[in-house]
Amino acid sequence: MREELKRIEADALAELSAVTNSADLEELRIKFFGRKGLLSTVMRGMGTLTDAERPVIGKLANEVRQHLTNAFEEVGERLNRQDREKQLAAEAIDITLPGRRPQLGKKHPITQTIDHIQQIFGGMGFQVADGPEIEHEYYNFDALNTPVDHPARDLQDTLYITDEVLLRTHTSPVQVRFMEKHKPPIRIIVPGKAYRLDYDVSHTPTFHQVEGLLVDQHVTFSELKGVLQSFARQMFGDQTAMRFRPHFFPFTEPSAEVDISCTVCSGKGCRTCSGTGWLEILGAGAVDPNVFEYANYSPNEVTGFAFGMGVERIASISYGIPDIRALYENDLRFLRQF
Ligand code: DAH
Repeated sequence: MREELKRIEADALAELSAVTNSADLEELRIKFFGRKGLLSTVMRGMGTLTDAERPVIGKLANEVRQHLTNAFEEVGERLNRQDREKQLAAEAIDITLPGRRPQLGKKHPITQTIDHIQQIFGGMGFQVADGPEIEHEYYNFDALNTPVDHPARDLQDTLYITDEVLLRTHTSPVQVRFMEKHKPPIRIIVPGKAYRLDYDVSHTPTFHQVEGLLVDQHVTFSELKGVLQSFARQMFGDQTAMRFRPHFFPFTEPSAEVDISCTVCSGKGCRTCSGTGWLEILGAGAVDPNVFEYANYSPNEVTGFAFGMGVERIASISYGIPDIRALYENDLRFLRQF
């Protein structure tokens, strides 16, 4: 029995030294200390010993049990420590790793341009107004003094929804809508979408305009020039020159197309301005008395001026975009440049 105890002790220590994880350790503990384990089995044999042998073997058995218990505890602690270290290593966060930045969206260049235009006219006391994109023929054409046989009414230019309802071809109808609801004085700009059957490097079927309307007593054409000159300098730089070319619009009389000195060559003449030194940026004029009549204003009591500009045109000049269709392709490589 003495030999058996010594052998169990030696076996246990040998097996213990080979244990590498807590599950194996537990299995080993059951093998030696369990109710049907090797130690218990030997201890049950104590009854067969003589009275002289029993205390000696008993003492030895206790020593072996204590020795092994200590050894198991030691290994248990070592394994626990190992497990904890493994877990800490696995869960470690490398705080030196650069983070993944969230992708931030930005305003589309067209929106940025509208914001800028709004800010400039806001500084001159203009308020923002709007109107419907689906418009009645009456506001888009008739009330703007546009005759029934005017080419702009043609199906080739205008997107009709029914015989009388259409997608507005410009923001000008908001002039009449606003005057119907408000008394003079009026000082508004109208940023918004417009639609035309047109598609090339400088036209997209959906595009943006900013309309302007100022109505009061004794408004003069020179005030129109002053307001637009101030706008051009703030938008394109202090050195920007401006010129008015006589033109025709049904809703203004007199009318003009307005050019600024070319932003690329400063007026010397280059490819961008086709050698002229000038870039057209908008149409403008004194509000036609007939338009006042349609809006139930008395042309004898008020005068005013109006203007309308294409936002894509302004943006392409400001940013140097040769083909405005790029604005609507949603290519991030293009959009990220703004
Ligand atoms: N509505 C015109 C267009 O789309 C632009 C325009 C010209 C607006 C003269 C005006 C204006 O208010 O006075 O081409």
